[in-house]
Formats: sequence, C-alpha cells, structure tokens
Amino acid sequence: MNINKKKTVIAGNWKMNKTPIETKNFFKDIIPVTTTSKCDIILCVPYIDISYAVKETKGSNIKIGAQNCHWEESGAFTGEVSAKMLKSIDTQYVIIGHSERRLYFAETDTTVNKKIKAALKENLKVILCVGESLEERENDTTNEVVSRQTKVALKGITINQIENIIIAYEPLWAIGTGKTATAEQADETCTFIREIISHLYNRSAAENIVIQYGGSMNSKNAQELLSKPNINGGLIGGASLNANEFVEIINIANSGNV
Ligand code: PGA
Repeated sequence: MNINKKKTVIAGNWKMNKTPIETKNFFKDIIPVTTTSKCDIILCVPYIDISYAVKETKGSNIKIGAQNCHWEESGAFTGEVSAKMLKSIDTQYVIIGHSERRLYFAETDTTVNKKIKAALKENLKVILCVGESLEERENDTTNEVVSRQTKVALKGITINQIENIIIAYEPLWAIGTGKTATAEQADETCTFIREIISHLYNRSAAENIVIQYGGSMNSKNAQELLSKPNINGGLIGGASLNANEFVEIINIANSGNV
C-alpha cells in the first residue's frame, strides 16, 4: 500500500479536565506557535469548554472536538448531548468509542455504530477509537477484537463517509499508564486496521484513512511512533493537557522526520 503519510493529525483528548478559564489560557499559549503547523491539530475538550475553545481558536488552524455524543437528535436522555447540539456550537470533531466510554459507561460496538451515524449525519468528523485490553493481547486476540470493533462500528458507513472518519488505535493497557506500546506493536496493529479498511472499502480508502496511535504518547516517544509507516498521528490524553508538551509533539510531527 502507498500510505498517505502527508496526512498527520495530532489530536488531544482532555478527558474530564480543564475549566473554561484554563481552556482560554491553554489556547492563548498554543495558538501563536501553531500557526505555521503543517499537520492538522484537533483538541477534544469537555462539553462545557467547547464554546470557549471554538471562540479562542477562530481563524486559527486548530479544530475543536467533543469526546462523545448521543445518537438521538433530542429527547428524554438526561445528561446527554446530541451530535446536532454539538454541531450547533461549531464543534467539528467528536471522539466515539473511547475505551473509557466502553469501560465505565457501558458503550458497546452497536452504540458506537449508532453514534458514528448520528455524528456523520450532522457533518461532524469522527475519531473512532478501537483497542484491546491487556488480557486480550496476552491471549493473542488483539486482531480479533480490533477487527470486530472496527467492522461493527463501520456497519452501514459508505465509502464517501469513510473520508470523514479517523481511526485511533488505543491499546487499553497503554492508556494513562505510562506504558506505551512499542512502535512496532503500534504499527503492526495500525497496519492490520488498514487492511480491514481495504477489505471493507478499497485500497485507496485504506491508503488515505488517517490511523492514529494513542496510549501514553508524549514528546519523548512521539518521534519513534509517528515515524512508523502506518501511523498517521496521535490521540494524546495526559500529554495534551500541558501546552508546552503538546506543542512539542506538534513540532515533532511537523519536523519532516516522521
Ligand atoms: P493517554 O490517553 O495519552 O493519557 O494515555 C490517550 C487517550 O485515552 O486517548
């Protein structure tokens, strides 16, 4: 495959961190140093921070995303936020199927699929997360798990719609643990995901889809991970909370050595 390595996307996932004031300060710090960035930059922030983040980043090359959405447009779903609502405040991306949503909020492959469809319907771009647990890796079922998650998530998604989806491979055992998958392990599973896309759609879709790695990526290991042929970027949790650290990762992605 002739992978489109020109497309590097660095996305931050703040999880349940930062107030609106902290959000404003973060963007004031990073915007001046990201204006010349060649790679795409996305920050997925808590719902309450989205409007502030959108305002601060207006006219910049930074895109703002949410971390979840509901699949219905509106209704009696206490505490939920719909894709339509996200779109109405100029959100551009939404993470769907993050392992913390699957683990702590009973999200399943089927609800992930429904959410992706709802997000695409509202013209939001999606970062779909897939990844195996430590037990699954040790039992040698990584490919089986990732394959099932990807196939069910993309059920009914057309070849035109796939252009609006990024896939983030995030092995659960590497998230927030400081334990990164080796660059080889990460690249191997990203390659496997690309093959699934080729099988579900076609070779060109597989060559052009952005596949990120996520799980304890930081400025120390980003170079090695991002330089792998099948890895087009990172979904970064902890290290995206610190403006200097996040900028350093963006600089690595822009360095031309990845
Ligand atoms: P981490 O999180 O970088 O803190 O491991 C990544 C993620 O959960 O998206």
